[in-house]
Amino acid sequence: MSDNILSIRNLETDYSLGNGGYVKAIRSLSLDVRRGESLALVGESGSGKSTLALSIMRLIEKPNKIAEGEIIFLDKDREISVLKLGEIGLRLFRWKKVAMIFQSAMNILNPVMRVENQFIDTFEAHNIQDDYDQRINKYLTIAGLGKKVRRLYPHELSGGMKQRVSIALALSCEPELLIADEPTTALDVVVQREILFELRQLKNSLNLSIIFITHDLSVASAVADRIGIFYAGRIVEIGKKNDVINRPAHPYAKLLLGSIVTLSTPRGKELTSLEGTPPDLSKEITGCSFYDRCPSHVKQCLTYDLQPLKVGEDHYVECLRAQELLDSE
Ligand SMILES: Nc1ncnc2c1ncn2[C@@H]1O[C@H](COP(=O)(O)OP(=O)(O)O)[C@@H](O)[C@H]1O
Ligand SMILES: [Mg+2]
Repeated sequence: MSDNILSIRNLETDYSLGNGGYVKAIRSLSLDVRRGESLALVGESGSGKSTLALSIMRLIEKPNKIAEGEIIFLDKDREISVLKLGEIGLRLFRWKKVAMIFQSAMNILNPVMRVENQFIDTFEAHNIQDDYDQRINKYLTIAGLGKKVRRLYPHELSGGMKQRVSIALALSCEPELLIADEPTTALDVVVQREILFELRQLKNSLNLSIIFITHDLSVASAVADRIGIFYAGRIVEIGKKNDVINRPAHPYAKLLLGSIVTLSTPRGKELTSLEGTPPDLSKEITGCSFYDRCPSHVKQCLTYDLQPLKVGEDHYVECLRAQELLDSE
């Protein structure tokens, strides 16, 4: 069995500008997600994190498109080519193999349906034949909710409870990979901590792999095994949490991390705003997309054929000068 659960190669996802042009929100991105790991993807707003999640779930709708690349889900005994799935295949894949928790639980909860019916709907849509009652109770309990919640409507729940219902729903189809896209950003600090802690526990007890998407470094450092740094539709650095946090090598990651982030970093600390703006993704970019904002750029960066360079064990960086910059520290 492969060590990876998901393998993405050269993915490009485009949003239509309506005038024939496109914004390339994901630009030839490659990424492996390992079985059983918790991978945090961190980056400024607009860097493409949600687009990547939606691409994996095949939720990119026309006129937007996944223009290129491959997404392979490595099931226990076979490979599923996600971008080639038809309607039936997709129904079996979505939520049963890969499930997603959205930033706002309201995106998936139907406001006029009792909680238990939302579960039943999901089970029916995904052909799950099981004791529904038992399954609903099991996953409500796992998400830290009591049975009473079953009969309630979403508006009768607090923000934290709604997010827990959406976690229970996502887990109830027993996916192997969970994508949590800023799952706690809208919640207050205490509830955030509780939910993140529980998700981490669940990862171990349910044998899940998790992609955590966040713009909050303290969240990433609390929940991740590995961290990937997102910039302008690509992952510019990826490695074990401690290596990326303590020894960032990409100039963008260095600026972003500025100071060492630990569990005691105040929560909600947003990424430092950097000078300059990210590149215009509707234009062709050659070489490094951080060139304009980079304090360490050299001429060669403009023609650099982007590829991850190894700077340490399990630590890769898309910067020509990464090793040299690390050595000079
Ligand atoms: N539905 C959409 N239509 C057009 N452009 C979009 C749409 N959704 C996102 N974008 C653009 O794609 C880029 C990436 O957005 P997104 O994936 O939401 O980033 P993040 O989740 O990191 O904040 C941004 O430039 C954003 O403006
Ligand atoms: Mg987003």
